[in-house]
Amino acid sequence: MPPASAAPQPTEGPALGKRKERCESAAGDGSGAETILDGRDTSPANLKRIKTAYDRNGLVCVSFLAAAKCDDLILEQWKHVLLKQEWAEEYRMKVRARDGTVLDVDNADHRREFLKSVVGPLDTKTRKMMETGWPLHRGFGACCDPAVFHLEGVWGIRQDPDLYQIASTIAEEDNLWVDVNRSIQKLPGQGENEFLHFDFNPFMRQAMMAGGGGDQGPKGVCGKACYTPSRFVYVEGTHTDQFQTEFVTEYKEHYPNVKMSDKKFGLDAKKPDPLELAARKRVMLVPAGSLVIWHPRLLHGQMKTPIRDPVEYGTYVGFFPAGSRQAYYDKCQVDELQDRLNSYLFGRMPTLWPSFDTVNFHPKKFENFPHLLQAYIKKLGPGHPMICTRIAGAGHAVPAIKPMPLLGYQPPALSDLGVSCAREWATTAMSVCV
Ligand SMILES: [Fe+2]
Repeated sequence: MPPASAAPQPTEGPALGKRKERCESAAGDGSGAETILDGRDTSPANLKRIKTAYDRNGLVCVSFLAAAKCDDLILEQWKHVLLKQEWAEEYRMKVRARDGTVLDVDNADHRREFLKSVVGPLDTKTRKMMETGWPLHRGFGACCDPAVFHLEGVWGIRQDPDLYQIASTIAEEDNLWVDVNRSIQKLPGQGENEFLHFDFNPFMRQAMMAGGGGDQGPKGVCGKACYTPSRFVYVEGTHTDQFQTEFVTEYKEHYPNVKMSDKKFGLDAKKPDPLELAARKRVMLVPAGSLVIWHPRLLHGQMKTPIRDPVEYGTYVGFFPAGSRQAYYDKCQVDELQDRLNSYLFGRMPTLWPSFDTVNFHPKKFENFPHLLQAYIKKLGPGHPMICTRIAGAGHAVPAIKPMPLLGYQPPALSDLGVSCAREWATTAMSVCV
């Protein structure tokens, strides 16, 4: 392994503390620096600080996970997801010490060395080995293997009382459900320098409000807990009603083809940008152990993980007002609570994301680029039970891959916060609410 670079190391030093840290802005001049608030101080004064920052900027970063906890969560991903890939032997990942010996994720004596090897920064040979054996959705950096939705440590984050208090304070909602969302495992060099987008359709929201249909925009909060250093690309203050009104007024004429049924909206770099949003884009450097929480209306983007950075590990964690949403049923004909329960009780992917997009086991684009899918079918080897067929638009069967059921799956334990009886839904069922 190469010597450690100047990149922040996630496994050393406490991630928590009373001190306020600063994230450098992309400009590097400190002008856009974000204060990291203490996510473990739930005093009224600190909750007010967190909410004030969130309301003003559209996002807030809080220290949240101790360094040892981050390490546990990284190892959990390796144990239950990354080392459980079904690829044929020659494609499987082996984590090695400096002297070349293979390290055992279950051996406590290997813990430090194992973490060092899988966090990096990675040498080229190790990175290539990991690219070959990495799960599906490698380019995005967050797979949809069923196991990833129900890791015990991640359920611990979802049920964290301090996080719930922060989320309910800033969302101004006492009764929230947590996302059943995916974990992040993003290799250096992966990801796209994607242009800015909203995870909803601002034109539709504005039209509905103008027509007396109320606010049909997204509710709750979005979040990302980072076990290793990460980034968040965004444009400050774009979540407010004032900005949204201005945005729709200024950009409507440049985007005449947006349909009211569109669920998301992305800016086009080739079109006019009257509010100079591209120039206002900022990159928040998110230290290991932090949680970045952003408003679901905030304009944001993505970027490639720099090749010399550590591997990004973390999990998405968001909250929204409790209760099955009609739009969920309309999209997939399954009640949202029923789907959450099925996912939790049987260890399956949920049917939809919180945004109502379909959860795809493999990237959707594989359906249009069969050679990409074929590369993964080849890695599974002939006759593997994950290889199946699907009926394509033209009515003929084409190759596909499906997830393996989780053998011996036990739903992670839920705390009192994580469980509440849904008597109106069924007498014996428990709702995975948080
Ligand atoms: Fe997004």
